[in-house]
Parts: sequence; C-alpha cells; structure tokens
Amino acid sequence: MTRSDPKSVIQNNEAAINPHNQSNERRNFLRGGVKAASLVAVASASPMVQAQESVQKDFPAWSITPGKGFSEYGQPSTFEFNTKRTIAKAYGDLAPGTGSTRTPIEKLEGIITPSGLHFERSHNGSPAIIPKEYVLTIHGLVKQALNFSIENLLRYPLKTRTYFIECAGNSAQNILAPQPVQATAGSLHGLISCSDWTGIPLSILLEEAGLDSKAKWVLAEGADAAAMSRSVPLEKILDDAMIALYQNGERLRPEQGYPARLLLPGWEGNMNVKWLRGLKVTSTPTHTKDETSKYTDPMSNGMARQFTFEMGVKSIITNPSATMKLPIPGLYQISGIAWSGAGRILRVEISSDGGKNWFNATLDGESQPHSLVRFRAPWNWKGSPAFLQSRATDEKGHVQPTRAVYKANNSVDGRYHNNTIVTWAVETDGSVKNAYL
Ligand code: CO
Repeated sequence: MTRSDPKSVIQNNEAAINPHNQSNERRNFLRGGVKAASLVAVASASPMVQAQESVQKDFPAWSITPGKGFSEYGQPSTFEFNTKRTIAKAYGDLAPGTGSTRTPIEKLEGIITPSGLHFERSHNGSPAIIPKEYVLTIHGLVKQALNFSIENLLRYPLKTRTYFIECAGNSAQNILAPQPVQATAGSLHGLISCSDWTGIPLSILLEEAGLDSKAKWVLAEGADAAAMSRSVPLEKILDDAMIALYQNGERLRPEQGYPARLLLPGWEGNMNVKWLRGLKVTSTPTHTKDETSKYTDPMSNGMARQFTFEMGVKSIITNPSATMKLPIPGLYQISGIAWSGAGRILRVEISSDGGKNWFNATLDGESQPHSLVRFRAPWNWKGSPAFLQSRATDEKGHVQPTRAVYKANNSVDGRYHNNTIVTWAVETDGSVKNAYL
C-alpha cells in the first residue's frame, strides 16, 4: 500500500476527518492489517502525527515550571499573532479612518467571528463617544419625539440573534481586477463577519413614539464625523431591525458602533448604521450622499439600481484557499462559510473541476436565517490540477451566480453585491491560487 493508494485513503477516512482522534487512527490501521513498514508511509500522508510509543522522559520547561498568572481580559496565544485583520485604507495616511479592515476568514472556524476580528468599514474613523453624553433621538413623522440615554436603552427587553454582516463592497477586487489578485481569502472576501447580537427590537421604540399615518421610511443617522446616513423602508424597521447594544456577550466594540448600532439582518453592511444617534421617520427616502454617490449599482445598460438592500446568496471555501499550499496528495476536508440575505441556506455544492460536476457538502449545524452556516466536504486530491468551487442555494431558491453573469449585468466599474462563485485553483505542487473561471 502506498500513500497514493485510494483504498488506504478511503479506509482511513474517519480518522483523517478527525485528526485529533489518534486511537481511531490506530484502530483503522490495525483493522486493515497494515504492516509496520508501510504504516510509516501512510502516516506521513495523513494530517496526523503518529502516536508516541514510548513514555516521554524529558519534559519541556513550560511543563514543569509554574505558569503565568491571571488576567482581567484574556488575549489569544502569542503564537496566533498572525490571526489578524488586513487593513485597507482608502486614502492612505491622509484619512487613516477611511476604508476597511477584513476578517481573516481563512484562519477561523465555526461561524462566530471573534469581536476583535469583525470586519470594519468606516467613512471617517471610529468616534470616541462618551456613553454618558450619548443620546438616541427618534423624531420626524411620530406622535411624540423621544430621546433615549444609554441607561434608558439598557432597561428595555432584549433579544439575542446570530446575524452576519457583509459589506456591499465585499469581493469587489475579484470583479474589478482584470487578473485575479493573489491574496488570502480574508483580504479578498473578508468583509463578512458573524456575531451574536443582543439588542432591542426597534418596533418597540417606534410603537412608543407612535407612527404618523404618512410614515414610510426611516433615516438612520450615525454620530461619526462622516455622518454616515441611510434611508430604510419602515417595513424592514418594524419586521426584524434591532438596536444592538451587545456583541458576542459583551458591549459593542468602539469600531462596531459603541454604544449602539442599527442591525438590519441580511441587509448590506453600511445600512447597519454604527454610532446610531438619530432615527427620523419620513414619508420618502432621504437620498443621502451615502446612497447616491455610493452604494448605488451602475448596470451595463447605463441605468443604475438604487436601494439594493438585501445581500445575495453566497459561499466561499475558506480552507483550502488562496496562498495556502497542500503539502501532499491525499484526503482533505474542505471547509467554508455560506449565507444569504434572503433567509436560510438550503444547500452548498462543491466542485473540484471548475463547475462541471457538483456534489453536496454537509452543513455543520442547522442554517439559521441571516446567519453564517459552516459547510464541510471530504475531498481526495490526487495531485493533478483542480479548480475548487462552492455554490450555495438559499431557501428562496436563489443560486450563487458565476462571475461571467455578474460582468454581463453590471457596468465595467460595477462592484457592489458580488456574490459570484469563487474559484481556487490547486496546482500540481499543491499551491492554491485565486482564479477566474
Ligand atoms: Co446595495
């Protein structure tokens, strides 16, 4: 039996998918009656480290000296220093707070983004709001304008939901760049993150203010120096919008809108207005600078789409992904994330031949509406060139489109709402590259 023998790979499938289960690995090898000589070759082809046969006699210093003391706020291991956001400043150091940071999705697992790694998109930096001075005002077409301090808001009934937030400009580089940029999955597609958000259903606060019969829209205004503002249809506000106060169990991070942000499940990131200071109820959209100069989508026919709120159905393989290298042919577990602004993810399919053949991935846990879901699939890489793709379908029947379809429907400088299928090319030496198909 050699390492490229497919029978040995299939036989050890269970152990390979669960690389920490060394007893499983041993059992499978023994059950197969593998001779000691070939065991070495097979073990080196698997992601596992062979179990130590002899008792370890020399313990490392970190194992026999008292460990570090306690801390009031824990930090990741210093050996994980490379798990960090990539920063993209729109105007360099001229406006250091204008631009974005991207989540290193290729280094994360599960569906929750650690709060300190949630992507950021700010139009003029993160304001240093003093909570005691913070006021949220609800005004406009209401029976009674209301002001809320943060203490007031914290006394309302709360609810917690797991929601993704994706920037409308996520994956823009894969549309705009004529040749595929070779960078990590996070720097190309990392304007997507997912958190447990806790907050107040906005319908409760609007009910208290009392809506005028002409009320149709709500202008959400940020307290940042860019006064980032968006018009939101009243229907969405009354459906599932919330004023988020907590993220992943703790109060919002400053760069995520501390002390309060708007949460519009499934809708484009910029509408989830951070540092929310005002909600003005109106009869029409306000046409703010942020919804005319930006976040309007030019089409190939010379017209433009405005108010494209919902994020499309999308998926991406995070492991393996661009800039990684598969060490050796054999069995791998493909892992990735899928989501849809329209609701739940129904199915994620995988192709290893650039979309000619597809097979179903397994969803790791139940897909919740407007949340990420993790998908997984075993894949036996035989050492020949491959084109890995994932394609998600949501419960409304939307299917992730190809890049060619996007290019045909949008103007040459169109970049928003790129939910197209991502292709990772695996070369014969195991290098994984970003590719257009
Ligand atoms: Co849009």
